[in-house]
Amino acid sequence: MGLVSDDEPRAALRGAVLGLGMIGRHHARLLQASSRVTFAGAVDPGGDRFGIVQEPALVFGSIEELLDAKAVDFAIVAVPTEEHLPAAQALAAAGVAVLVEKPLAATAREARALMAAVEAAGVRAAVGHVERCNPALLELRRRVGTGQLGEVFLIATERVGPFPARVRDVGVVKDLATHDLDLVCWLGGAPIERLAAQTQHRMGRQHEDLVLVTGRLRSDVAFNVNVDWLSPTKVRRTRILGERGMLVADTLTSDLTFFANGEVTSEWTAAQAARGVSEGDMTRYALSRREPLLVELETFCDWVAGDDSAPIVTLEEGLATVLAAEAVLEAAGSGETVRL
Ligand SMILES: NC(=O)c1ccc[n+]([C@@H]2O[C@H](COP(=O)([O-])OP(=O)(O)OC[C@H]3O[C@@H](n4cnc5c(N)ncnc54)[C@H](O)[C@@H]3O)[C@@H](O)[C@H]2O)c1
Repeated sequence: MGLVSDDEPRAALRGAVLGLGMIGRHHARLLQASSRVTFAGAVDPGGDRFGIVQEPALVFGSIEELLDAKAVDFAIVAVPTEEHLPAAQALAAAGVAVLVEKPLAATAREARALMAAVEAAGVRAAVGHVERCNPALLELRRRVGTGQLGEVFLIATERVGPFPARVRDVGVVKDLATHDLDLVCWLGGAPIERLAAQTQHRMGRQHEDLVLVTGRLRSDVAFNVNVDWLSPTKVRRTRILGERGMLVADTLTSDLTFFANGEVTSEWTAAQAARGVSEGDMTRYALSRREPLLVELETFCDWVAGDDSAPIVTLEEGLATVLAAEAVLEAAGSGETVRL
């Protein structure tokens, strides 16, 4: 059941998915369509409620049933967050590589146990922080890397909208803001140094449904994360502000826009500096739009097949995000700034 050998890096991998819910059904669709993968099956005790698996015999009620029936090289863990740990443990013990949906686990303790299981089994594993595969964010990061904005001083994300009835086991911090806590570090090129947070509980659930985080990366870039399930419209926006202007990515439409600072035309440079920036040209970039979940799958397949340079999200990065989410909840509870 091991990995394909290094001299056959493009051979089809036998891939399965655990969980056929909101996100698992999309993984199942892509696994069945990909020429890189032979679809080994899907596991969901609730069955295939979205009717996504073309061959009904490939829907299994448990991991054990799947592994008894099929040889599996890798599996995508798309079960509720609190069940990531037992699912990944069972797969790793059977020698199966795992792509675990974000967040890596519900708590840092569980994330570390998951990492230990993967390490003990010697299997490859990564986290599905799929926003890193969004074309607008990839291009945003590339442009920041080329120095288009000059020195960067702010990363601000907004991820608000109505409540999706599917989420039951965690609050908005772990379910949604983990996207943003990963993004600010990936885009800013540094880990979080400190943060403060505010939450709201407006829907009568045990967990929070709104969070505002403000903090600083170790690179001294300030960041702001604004996430909720209470807004009557869906917004997914990431903006990076630097000394030459601002890049704004809309990940719903995969649009990227550059707002340049106006040219300095006056000799009175000191007076201009005191006045601050002015509005310059605005450019919307035309991007080729590939489905982020497909890019994530292909990247993971490259890596499982032996390409160590494939840009997967490591378990260490996944753990850092879970730790950041716990720090957010601690900061919101105590009202204090938390250092990571
Ligand atoms: N990357 C993203 O953008 C994204 C989006 C949504 C969800 N997610 C993550 O994916 C995971 C699943 O979320 P969802 O919204 O699809 O949840 P969901 O509740 O819609 O679906 C989960 C499915 O898993 C099944 N399940 C439960 N226990 C199982 C087990 N032991 N083995 C196999 N199947 C099992 C359930 O029957 C259900 O069908 C969560 O960790 C969530 O954070 C990621």
